[in-house]
Amino acid sequence: MSSTAKGSSLHVAALGGDGVGPEVVAGAIVVLEATAKRFGIRLKVDHGLVGGAAIDACGKPLPDETLALAKVADAVLLGAVGDARFENRPHPERAEAGLGGLRRGLDLWSNLRPIQARSILAAATPFRPEVIQDVDILIVRELSGGIYVGGPRGREGELGQRAAYDTMRYDEHQIARIARVGFEAARKRRHRLISVDKANVLQCSVLWREVVNEVAIEFPDVKLEHHLVDSFAMRLITHPRELDVVVTSNLFGDILSDEASVIAGGLGLLPSASLGGNTGLYEPVHGTAPDLAGQDKANPIATILSAAMLLRHTARNEAAAQAIEAAVDETLLAGIGTSDLRHSRKVVGTIELAETIAQRVVAGQAVAGR
Ligand code: IPM
Ligand code: MG
Repeated sequence: MSSTAKGSSLHVAALGGDGVGPEVVAGAIVVLEATAKRFGIRLKVDHGLVGGAAIDACGKPLPDETLALAKVADAVLLGAVGDARFENRPHPERAEAGLGGLRRGLDLWSNLRPIQARSILAAATPFRPEVIQDVDILIVRELSGGIYVGGPRGREGELGQRAAYDTMRYDEHQIARIARVGFEAARKRRHRLISVDKANVLQCSVLWREVVNEVAIEFPDVKLEHHLVDSFAMRLITHPRELDVVVTSNLFGDILSDEASVIAGGLGLLPSASLGGNTGLYEPVHGTAPDLAGQDKANPIATILSAAMLLRHTARNEAAAQAIEAAVDETLLAGIGTSDLRHSRKVVGTIELAETIAQRVVAGQAVAGR
């Protein structure tokens, strides 16, 4: 990839995955293509299999070809993985292992999950408008360690004696590097960072707090607070306007980001970027939504906003990223949306919503050029 200027090129590995994944990725590609055209980016999209779809086709949730494609691409745009047919299998053979394998294989350790409240969607949330007005939070989730990754893990014993165990482990370098991502992000925003842990119970969290405090010395201009995850879960929905950047571990970040999505108007709106190695991975925070799959009903906006993050963080084309975000805002303001968006006056399907947003990206050019 060559970076900022017009005329740059961008190679994207599109991995639809399972459930609604392929549909929302198809929608996001429509928008990405329109945006690339407008901004003079030579876009190359290659498709690959991951998750249950890959198990069906070649017996593995992350085929070697998919990982190889992801490694040569500039970025991965992923839909969702998960398939109930494989949920009784050992962990490495489940659909979700495809995502874990990509995160490991691409050395992705920093997961950015921005949450913005839009006033047009406020009525579609369970909140009073004044509670969430102008909310703008960035959750920085550690992605390479913690209980989702650590070993040993397993289960033992016969019926009546069954036991299972997982291991939560963090090395200080993992904590320090994600803390720096949080501090750097806060520096570009409102200079406030909250680190979330469970230091009153967990050894990992005691180390987490220690290391975050050590890194804080490099960032005297950022105001740091530590919160325990249980009380923070409450604070997130009682006082979301006070929050700026939140840095936390793999487990807590997973849970808190789903909770935070309610502020934005639902999981159908939340994008994410996973960074660290050479290839960034961009995906909606939501899952496979199997009940909606194959019906052209899923909301593609989370994936479309993930494509905007791809343009921002991988292509380093801020104008292109903002063009997508503006087109999404305009479309929502016009009352056009999928059926999960309760404010929609005009309910459309996945692809029509993506095409509407793509048209607005292109139309934005006319406005800008005037
Ligand atoms: C997410 C998802 C994944 C995770 C699952 C599908 C493994 O919930 O990205 O939030 O827990 O990391
Ligand atoms: Mg999750």
